[in-house]
Amino acid sequence: MQKIRYLLATDLDGTFVGDEEGLRELLDYYDSLPERVALAYVTGRHRASAMGLIREERLPVPDILITDVGTSVYSGPDLAEDPGWKQRMTENWDPQAVRGIARGISGIRLQNLPDTRRVSFFSEGGEPAEKLKNALTSDGIPHTFIFSSGRDVDILPEGGGKGEALRYVIGKFAEVDASILVAGDSGNDLDMLMLGYPSVIVSNARPELLEAEGHDALFRATRPCAGGILEAWMHFHGNTADIKG
Ligand code: GLC
Ligand code: MG
Repeated sequence: MQKIRYLLATDLDGTFVGDEEGLRELLDYYDSLPERVALAYVTGRHRASAMGLIREERLPVPDILITDVGTSVYSGPDLAEDPGWKQRMTENWDPQAVRGIARGISGIRLQNLPDTRRVSFFSEGGEPAEKLKNALTSDGIPHTFIFSSGRDVDILPEGGGKGEALRYVIGKFAEVDASILVAGDSGNDLDMLMLGYPSVIVSNARPELLEAEGHDALFRATRPCAGGILEAWMHFHGNTADIKG
């Protein structure tokens, strides 16, 4: 794959998807540019679910697909799984141990997922999630804990998450001085929004993001979903249109 010069790395639900008109505007704007903007979708969904959404919403097929809250990376024309990332995500991962500990905690329900690359739950508010987090830590289980939308709990391999996966992808596929924008709306996006790249929190974001501390390159959009992405792209890279391909 040719190294990427322009990259939008975006969450899907509630960010890229959620406002059809805003999405049209964003995609039309990208089409009008002399340089192609590569797309990386960075989602909490598993691969089949993400592909289903891409079909249903008629989204462009991305150059890179990061699924399962950053525990899987797919790239290229066939969206083939990245073996390097897969190895990093499996070498020190014990999903059975996570499930075992979770069984003793009430108020959390296991999500039904096609494989064990992550173990996710629905939590009845923050308290059961916090209990699980503490139990995993006190039992010394290597993991990354992600809580989103006051309900979704993702237990990932250590070093997993959208942020680490995106860092890996940018290092592998993008030029050193690529123009990048990272976009998200909920807790599982926080680590990637905090990498320090130009980033946008869309206006419809969940409280956990609206309350998050910013950094110099973090833009808070006034528009929801894809309209907010467009607003931020213009803010950071609005002169892209002047760059001849
Ligand atoms: C998506 C996934 C779910 C995950 C949540 C938060 O909704 O389908 O499995 O827990 O994102 O990351
Ligand atoms: Mg989202």
